[in-house]
Amino acid sequence: MKIAKLIISIIWIFLGSILITTQGVSAGGDKENGKDLYKQNCRLCHEKDSPNGEFTPMSLTQDQWKAFFKNKFEAKHKDVILEREKKKLLEFLTTKQIEIIQKYCVDHAADSEQPQTCSE
Ligand code: HEC
Repeated sequence: MKIAKLIISIIWIFLGSILITTQGVSAGGDKENGKDLYKQNCRLCHEKDSPNGEFTPMSLTQDQWKAFFKNKFEAKHKDVILEREKKKLLEFLTTKQIEIIQKYCVDHAADSEQPQTCSE
């Protein structure tokens, strides 16, 4: 009987670790996505020497990014046009895409564990 219980616990641990691993992979996927979205929809207007200000994820801290997306992002970009799409940035990006970009900025902010400039 004891051995049966032991085997069942081992199976549970095994299943648990598969679950954790697959979740890790999908989180990694989102990060990639956030970087691509940032490159395509943010960096073009915020490169070095840009009149709109140079911004990369590591330009701000995590709290500053959160405050920016909460209070300023829409107000500052409401009239901003994405030339490539011939559309307003705020009409082109979906809420989900903005969330992914925000997560990417926060995850790679100046005070994050992996600050990034998004230039590589
Ligand atoms: C088509 C050009 C354009 C695109 C694309 C764009 N921005 Fe901006 N951004 C601007 C302009 C214009 C301002 C306002 C500059 C000012 O107030 O002088 C601004 C301001 C900012 C600021 C500074 C806000 C402040 O505190 O004053 C940040 C941070 C920023 N943008 C981040 C982003 C992020 C993140 C993205 C991508 C989701 C993005 N921008 C996409 C043009 C753009």
